[in-house]
Amino acid sequence: MMMQKSRMKSDENKNAIIAEQIVAMKKEKNAVLLAHYYQIPEIQDIADYIGDSLGLAQQASQTKADLIVFAGVHFMAETAKILNPTTKVVLPDLDAGCSLADSCPPQDFARFKEQHPGHVVVSYINCSAAIKTMSDVICTSGNAVKIVESFPPDQKIIFAPDKNLGAYINQVTGRDMVLWDGTCQVHDLLTTEAVIKLKADHPDAKLIAHPECKAAVLALADFTGSTTALLNFTKKDSAKKYIVATETGILHQMKKQSPDKEFLIVPADSTCSCNDCPYMKLNTMPKILACLRDETPEIILSDEVMSAARKPIDRMLEISRQAGLI
Ligand code: 13P
Ligand code: SF4
Repeated sequence: MMMQKSRMKSDENKNAIIAEQIVAMKKEKNAVLLAHYYQIPEIQDIADYIGDSLGLAQQASQTKADLIVFAGVHFMAETAKILNPTTKVVLPDLDAGCSLADSCPPQDFARFKEQHPGHVVVSYINCSAAIKTMSDVICTSGNAVKIVESFPPDQKIIFAPDKNLGAYINQVTGRDMVLWDGTCQVHDLLTTEAVIKLKADHPDAKLIAHPECKAAVLALADFTGSTTALLNFTKKDSAKKYIVATETGILHQMKKQSPDKEFLIVPADSTCSCNDCPYMKLNTMPKILACLRDETPEIILSDEVMSAARKPIDRMLEISRQAGLI
């Protein structure tokens, strides 16, 4: 126990030294560190911007930095590159993928599109650049309903790759979109059993859930939304306790911004008290420092892919602007 405590203290000290080096090097190189809410607290604390996928895409499109260090996963860094093609974008670990993006191989998706003529394609931003080139418009969990509602009610729509988010939007909008069969390996594991047990143990807590969760979990939720929407809800709402059905990283900002409230994460299974995204958690302080210093691994995409993938992302940003979401 003593040994464990002193190891934790020494890791904290190391991270504090690395944090100082990162902050100094960012300034020297005119670099910006963009971080998703699922990053570890140390990374969130030194980021220039922390946000959900929509906020991060908007920041990436507007930044005047010479270098974007993306503390998130591959599809997010790709999106940043597409929106800011003249700026170098680096990702601390190229293995930081996403089960949703991986569930949708471009060749299989091209066949799926062929099987559904007359459909427009709305793709969740959690997909590869190749899938984006095959899409009419991109959405995030923060704007998905508005994006789908921008089409006439009788428009046939394919939604990819998250079937849980797609089913949730179908339910909210009354549409009947054709859904690609993909899931987030973190959110899809959260069970109603775990939620019901937490609710029984904490009857005074509200359940808040990310729409990548299964429909049965969402049916029990008091509020459903993107990571930013969940965070904002906990700030404005009057409850003092929340059961949180999403990745564990978001708790850092929730606790920071509402220190008087209590947050309970829904466990992935009975042996685990947390649910970390294994891809998001590949990013570490030493890897951030190394990629900022060496400017590698860099996100490289062809001009052709960037220009084709940009159209549906720009369309998303335009609809989001019109809807007052950004
Ligand atoms: P948002 O932060 O956009 O809600 O996305 C959650 C997520 O799973 C990102 O990979
Ligand atoms: Fe992908 Fe899920 Fe991880 Fe987000 S939390 S990066 S959707 S696997």
